[in-house]
Order: sequence, then structure tokens, then C-alpha cells
Amino acid sequence: MGNETILVVDDSRAVLSSIAEILQSNGYTVDTASDGAIAVDKINDKFYDIILTDLAMPKKDGMELLKYITENSPESMCIIITGYGTIKNAVEAIRLGAFDYLTKPVKSEEIQVVIERALNYRELKRENTTLKKQVNARYAYENIVGDSENICEVFHLIDKVAQTDSTVLIMGESGTGKELIAHAIHYQSDRRDKPFIPVNCGAIPEELLESELFGHEKGAFTHAIRTRIGRFELAHNGTIFLDEIGDMSPNLQVKILRVLQGHQFERIGGTKTIKTDIRVIAATNKNLEEAVETGRFREDLYYRLNVIPIHVPPLRERAGDIPLLAHHFLEKFNKSKKKNIKSISKEVMQCFMSYEWPGNVRELENMIERLIILANDDKITVRDLPERLLAHRKKDTTQPHQHNALPEEGLYLHAAVNEFERNLILQALDKAGWVKNKAAQLLNLNRTTLIEKMKKQKLMKPANPMDN
Ligand SMILES: Nc1ncnc2c1ncn2[C@@H]1O[C@H](COP(=O)(O)OP(=O)(O)OP(=O)(O)O)[C@@H](O)[C@H]1O
Ligand SMILES: [Mg+2]
Repeated sequence: MGNETILVVDDSRAVLSSIAEILQSNGYTVDTASDGAIAVDKINDKFYDIILTDLAMPKKDGMELLKYITENSPESMCIIITGYGTIKNAVEAIRLGAFDYLTKPVKSEEIQVVIERALNYRELKRENTTLKKQVNARYAYENIVGDSENICEVFHLIDKVAQTDSTVLIMGESGTGKELIAHAIHYQSDRRDKPFIPVNCGAIPEELLESELFGHEKGAFTHAIRTRIGRFELAHNGTIFLDEIGDMSPNLQVKILRVLQGHQFERIGGTKTIKTDIRVIAATNKNLEEAVETGRFREDLYYRLNVIPIHVPPLRERAGDIPLLAHHFLEKFNKSKKKNIKSISKEVMQCFMSYEWPGNVRELENMIERLIILANDDKITVRDLPERLLAHRKKDTTQPHQHNALPEEGLYLHAAVNEFERNLILQALDKAGWVKNKAAQLLNLNRTTLIEKMKKQKLMKPANPMDN
């Protein structure tokens, strides 16, 4: 601490100069104002760490000034200076946000103690807020992995929208992380301490969904034996996450639209209008624009939801994230399955990188879980991979003749056939764990022919073929 700036406000010149003198001798920079209106001007011009103010003053009194400070300069600590007879008002001022009060005549030691306490308090509060922010940020992000340009754009958007109350529409293929992103937005926002209420609009049958969302009164329909609070009500002051919104029936679309427009609704069978303060995040893996065009999704609802769109790219468009994700899941499942698989071979990673991942991150996650369970060594190797990933590797090798397409510039047939053969033999050996009988079977050759071909191709079992 040191070099703090203090504003003293009092209509008595004598009080002003005596307090200013005490403060200056303690090393503070001091400004003075002889009434509330002048004080407001000064506060607008400059930031004050501490504002000491009298209560009874002409023009703007101390209470009004306090109100102004809490609204416009909330980081300034306000201390009331009060006459003996007005302590009651000073207490009221504390209730309204002043830090403490001093009674006139103000003593030098007293003033120093109160100011130090005020500055300490503010420091603690600041530390606390930063810590809280950091903890929350970590909580929100610790599970989202990725550093590709595509996903960083999404992170950037999350940061931006979290600070607002705007409705967000998250769009992306199945398994791309939409729910994770919805969580992150909530836990980054000021609503983080309030509920995050998810509703899976696709999984719940229409009749149930309505009461799930809006709740119902006792006796509203045959099975309504007691009043039920719906998700919109539960989410009050927090966030509601309308997942799979594209699957919602037209009937419910209208009802949702009403809540989004007016922030109010009634329970089923109820007459009381319930107001709700919610932040709405919706997600879908459907193409909503197309659904609007074909009349399956209401256009007005689409525009209500699509205030801030977030497009989550499919995994194949951010293959650069695959190694990070794969290792993230490796660590996760090692822990939960009590395994100790140390690495993923380079070749496996290459297969991962060139595979299309129609199920996106979820598919990769499931794949790693399965590989960890099946792996024999402490490493995941191509031997463990399912056919669909290996098949893809075949397609994706960089050799043009592997695709059986004749390159523009032509090719050397013998070399190409040779290369083709070599590649298939290698794959068969890989798959068979270099057991020649098995590999020969896969290629429908007899064992001796395979050995001959291996010699010709100079194929030998590497010391540790799957090593990184
Ligand atoms: N970037 C990521 N980092 C770590 N894990 C991720 C990431 N993205 C997705 N996941 C994981 O993948 C799985 C699927 O994610 P999530 O449920 O959020 O996807 P979704 O887009 O909502 O899928 P669906 O459309 O099928 O509902 C989850 O287990 C999630 O934890
Ligand atoms: Mg989801």
C-alpha cells in the first residue's frame, strides 16, 4: 500500500483542512470538496481509493453521494464522517455500502486505523474475487481440451458470451462437445453460483417434456398428484440448457418461444404467471436453417435462439487436437480403470489423425477407453485397432498408386505393384502380430510364399515395431 488517493468531502472548511492535514502528513494524496456536487465532479475526473464524507451537506448530501459512489465508483471505499447526533444515519449509511464511520472531532490515530482497515479489506476482496474467478475458470475449462485454431475460436467466443446474458445457440455434429461448451459458458458467467439446468428435449416424450419444462399444479391431469416445479422455474437466476432443441415438437416450440420473449409462463393447470430470470443456451446437431426451410422448426424461434451462434467444428476439421485429446483420455481412463498404459504408438496416432471420426470426440473417447481395456502391453499399438481405423490408414497413405488411380504423369508399374504388395504384407504382419502363419492366412498365401516375398521386400520384424 502507499500513494493512495483520498477525497475528503465536508461543508466545513475547518474540518476539511484539519482532516486533509492529518492525511497528508501520513503520506496520502488528498483532494477536498466542499459539497456533494463538487465531489461528484471530482469522482468523475479521477479515481479515489478512499472517499471520506460528511452526511449533512447542502446540494447533494452524504447519502446521495454514497449512492453515487456505490453505483459509479464501486471500487472506492467510502467512510462517513458524522457529528455526534447523527450516528444513527451513519449506521444506515453502512447498511447502504459505506465501509465504516468516524465521529467528529476526528482524531489522527482513529482516521489512520480506519483507512488502513478499509484498504486491507479492499485488497482481500480483490484477491478473493480473482481467486474465485480463477477457480471457476479452471473448473469450466479443465475438461475442454484442444489448441487447434478452430477450437480456440470457440474458446474465444465462450469467453465473450459468458460475460453477457445473451441467448446462445450451439451447433455441431454429435459428440463434438456441445454440452461441455454450454457448461463452460455457465461456469464462466456471473450466474455460476446459480443453477445450471439441462433439459434433453430429444429424449423426453412430448407430453412429459411440457410438464418437465413448465411444471404443473396438483390435479392438472390424471397423474398430477402433487404440484411440480418445472425446469424453467428451477433455473431461475441461472442457466437453462435446452439440448437437442431441433427435436422439439411444433407445439412446444410455440410455448418455449413465449418464455423466451416474455420471461414468464404458467405451470400446466395453473393460472399464476411465474416470472423467471434465466439465461438460455440451446444446442442441436440438426441443421436448423434447413429445418426452418422445410417447416419443421419455427422461424421466429430460430431467430430468438440464434442470437449468438457457436459452431463447433467436427473433429476431422481439427485433427491437430487429436493427440492432445487422445492423451487426455488416456490419462482419464488410466485413472478410472486403474491401468497404466503409458503411450500410444506413432502409427496408431497416424491412424487416428487420418480417420474421419463420424462420432467426433465422443467416438475418440470411447475408442481410447476400449483400447485401454484391451491393450496387453503398456502401450497402445496398431494391433489393438479395429478394422475401420486400419482400413482408413490404407486409404490414406500418401502413395498415389495405393488409390489405384493412375497419376496424371503416369507411373512405373513394377514399382507401384511392388509397393502395393509390400504395404499389404506389412499390414497383414502388423495385424497378425508378426506371426507369419496368421499373416499368410490373411493374404491367402502359403507360409513359404509369404517368407519369400518378405525376403524379396526385405521385410524383417523390427526390434520393437510399434515404438514411438
Ligand atoms: N474438447 C473436448 N475436450 C475433452 N473432452 C471433450 C471435448 N469435446 C467433447 N468431449 C467429450 O466428448 C463427449 C461428448 O461431448 P458432449 O456430450 O459435450 O457432445 P455433444 O456435442 O453434446 O454431443 P451430442 O450431440 O451427441 O449430444 C463427452 O464425454 C465430453 O466430455
Ligand atoms: Mg449433447
